[in-house]
Amino acid sequence: MQVDLRQSWWIRDVEIPTRLVLAPMAGVSVQAFRRQGRRYGAGLVCSEMVSCAGLEHRNERTLGYLRVARDEHPLAIQIFGSEPSVMSEAARMVVAAGADIVDINFGCPVRKVTKTGAGATLLEDPDRACAIVDAVASAVDVPVSVKMRRGLGDGSRACLVIGPRLVAAGAATLTLHPRSARQMYTGDADHTLTAELVDAVEVPVIASGDITSRARAQEVLATTGAAAVMVGRAAQGNPWTLGEIVDGDTAEPSREEIAAELIVFVRETVRELGERRATGFLKKFYGWYLGRGRFPKPFKQELVQLESTEGVVTRLLAAAPGAADLVERLEAELPDPADEILLDSMPISIYGGG
Ligand SMILES: Cc1cc2nc3c(=O)[nH]c(=O)nc-3n(C[C@H](O)[C@H](O)[C@H](O)COP(=O)(O)O)c2cc1C
Repeated sequence: MQVDLRQSWWIRDVEIPTRLVLAPMAGVSVQAFRRQGRRYGAGLVCSEMVSCAGLEHRNERTLGYLRVARDEHPLAIQIFGSEPSVMSEAARMVVAAGADIVDINFGCPVRKVTKTGAGATLLEDPDRACAIVDAVASAVDVPVSVKMRRGLGDGSRACLVIGPRLVAAGAATLTLHPRSARQMYTGDADHTLTAELVDAVEVPVIASGDITSRARAQEVLATTGAAAVMVGRAAQGNPWTLGEIVDGDTAEPSREEIAAELIVFVRETVRELGERRATGFLKKFYGWYLGRGRFPKPFKQELVQLESTEGVVTRLLAAAPGAADLVERLEAELPDPADEILLDSMPISIYGGG
C-alpha cells in the first residue's frame, strides 16, 4: 500500500504538513539542523532534550536551547526531568519561547539522566510519569507529546501498559522508539510494538527507529498505522534523505550542493552557538556531510584540523567553487535572524529576573 507522506495530519489543533518528523537529538538538533529539516520536507521538528532543572536555575546554556526561528514552526521543544512541578514550570517557559508542542522525554537511556529519575526510568514509574504529563498538560495550552522507548529491559512491553495511561493523563501524541533503554542503539527497532501501541490508543502515534529510506517509511506507516515516521541518524549531514523519504527524490546531491548546505549550516551554527562552541560542535558534521564517498577522506581530516570555521568555509569553497552561488541563494531565502524571538525579550520571569 502506498502512503502519501505529503499528507498533513493534526496534533490536536496543530497542523503537521507532512508525515515526516525530524528526531530530537542531543548534540545535533540545533536550530540550523531543524530549519534545514523543514526545508527538506520534515513536517515537524524538535529541539534536543532540555533539562527542566537547567531552566529552573536559569542556566545560561540551557536557556540558549530555547532560541526559536520564524521558519521552524511547527516546532516541539523537548524537556526532561522527574519533578511534576518543575516540569510544568519548564513547559510554561518553552511555550513562552515559541514552542507549538511541548514534548516530554521518557526515553533517554543515558545514565546521567536516568540516575536522576528522568528519561526512560519513568517508564517503570507510571504513577510519576502520569503525574508529570498531567502537570505539564494542565500548565500549558499547547498540545503535550511524549517520546518513549519500549521499556527498560530487553523484551519489555512497558510502553503498551503506560501508553494509554499517558494519554488519559493528557498526552496528545506518543512517539515510540521501540528499543529498550538497555539496548541503547543496538539491535533493531521492533515496530510490531508500534502497531500494538497504535491499536491501544486513540491519539496519533509517531514511529521512531531505523527509518532510513522511503521504502522503509512506507512499510512502517502501512504496517503500523502510525500517523508519521520520525527520522534521526539518517538525517545527520544528509538532509537529502528527507527529500527521498517524503518525495521519492533519489537524485544524489552534487559536491556543490553538499558544500553549500554545509557552509550554511556552519554559518548558522556559529550565529547560534558562537565561534568557540561551534568549532568543536561542528567537527562531527564534517564527517557526516563529506563521508559516504562524497569527498576524499583526507579532505575531511583537513577540515577537522582547521582552527576557525571561516577557514572551513574557505576550504569548502576552494574544493567546490560552484557552491558560492548556491550559498547566496540559500541565505537569501532564510528569514532575517532579527525575526527570532530573543531571550532578552521574553517575560522577565523567564530570563531570571523577579
Ligand atoms: C546522538 C543522538 C542523540 C539523541 N538525543 C535524543 C534526545 O535528546 N531526545 C530524544 O527523545 N531522543 C534522542 N535520541 C533518539 C532519537 O530521537 C531516535 O529516537 C533514535 O535515534 C532512533 O531513531 P533513528 O534510528 O532514526 O536514529 C537521540 C539519538 C541520537 C543518535
